[in-house]
Amino acid sequence: MENLECIFCQREYPLDIFNPFCPECHEPLLCPSPKKKRKFSLEKTSSLEKYLDFLPLSKINPNLSLGEGDTPLLKLNRFMENFNLPPVFIKNETVNPIACFKDRGTAVAVQKAVSLGIKRIGTVSTGNMASSTAAYGAKAGLETFVLLKEDISPDKLLAISMYNPVLVKVEGDYGELFYESFSLGRKHNIYFMNSVDPFRIEGYKVTGFEIFLQLGNRIPRYIFAPMSSGGHLIGLMRAFLDLKKEGFIQYLPTFVGVQAHGCSPLAQAYASGKSKVKRIKIAKTIAQSISNPDPPGGNILLKLIQENNGRILDVSDKEILEAQKMLAELEGIFCEPASSTVLAGLLKLSGKLKLRADDLIVLVITGSGLKAMNVLEPSRINVREATISSLERTISSILE
Ligand SMILES: Cc1ncc(COP(=O)(O)O)c(C=O)c1O
Ligand SMILES: [Zn+2]
Repeated sequence: MENLECIFCQREYPLDIFNPFCPECHEPLLCPSPKKKRKFSLEKTSSLEKYLDFLPLSKINPNLSLGEGDTPLLKLNRFMENFNLPPVFIKNETVNPIACFKDRGTAVAVQKAVSLGIKRIGTVSTGNMASSTAAYGAKAGLETFVLLKEDISPDKLLAISMYNPVLVKVEGDYGELFYESFSLGRKHNIYFMNSVDPFRIEGYKVTGFEIFLQLGNRIPRYIFAPMSSGGHLIGLMRAFLDLKKEGFIQYLPTFVGVQAHGCSPLAQAYASGKSKVKRIKIAKTIAQSISNPDPPGGNILLKLIQENNGRILDVSDKEILEAQKMLAELEGIFCEPASSTVLAGLLKLSGKLKLRADDLIVLVITGSGLKAMNVLEPSRINVREATISSLERTISSILE
């Protein structure tokens, strides 16, 4: 019998895929660590098979993969030079199948669904997780239900609809919808693999293992990641906790969670030393993918950050847009505003960190800029015009 555990009351409960919450603490349940010794299987080719020992799966079905993972770790040479920083790397998650880190978690949750004989899956999402779940659902031949916010933009809706899931726009409170989806799921046998699903979170661990190995088994001094519901950073932290437990490392990186100032319930709780996150009333930021005012993984994340000397900060929309532009212009990486928060966060914090020349910094860039074209200012376009006959003159005048 498979169990899930609550990290607040330390109790284990039998897996109930339709309601993975602690009945006492009402917090999301997580996958417990196995008792056996774990190792990497780096001779394998697929990203999930390499880390199978660390995942809550007994085997990997290759037919369910869309080629997630094994993303590049890129050194930001020009950026480091400009800001006189020690080595800064980007873990470029925008090159995942649906151009976002969410695929890492969806891939594991869909493996789990199929292994349990589940035929229907679903998610509550405003964009990235909806596309990811619908894409993997299509690949696996599962009926997929996507519950959306009523104000979702038409282009996002169009992108999700390509995979032909059942789409329902729901009027009402988004936080309430998250919890309502689980009772719907139980009634109609739909496994809602939402943002803090325990199997989804385990999938995010793989990013952490890859970072460690890509750095030649070195521990980054800092890892920056954007936060919304909290699931992604919980997964990254759990990767390094696993590495410590198995004796690969002796200490953890410092994890830095970054939020947008206009929706920063976690940053607010952290700044005031609280152990519980308070829902905020109005979320207003251009970083739409990370604008969850009531993060369901918030209390777990606060606990992990506080226990492991992590940090949380927020950055303004202006700082986010400047960082987005800088990353594209200096390093050739076009990410969405939710992701450029990490670069903005590093710039904001770097003066206070007392960085040493050999400190390694990793920024996890979670989603592609092509996902949020609506935030870009057309006024930034600087295009010259020419005819074929005047083209040479135009180019010469630019070169002068
Ligand atoms: C691009 C992007 N980055 C970061 C996040 C934050 O992840 P989480 O909600 O797991 O904290 C999201 C969540 O949707 C996202 O879409
Ligand atoms: Zn509990």
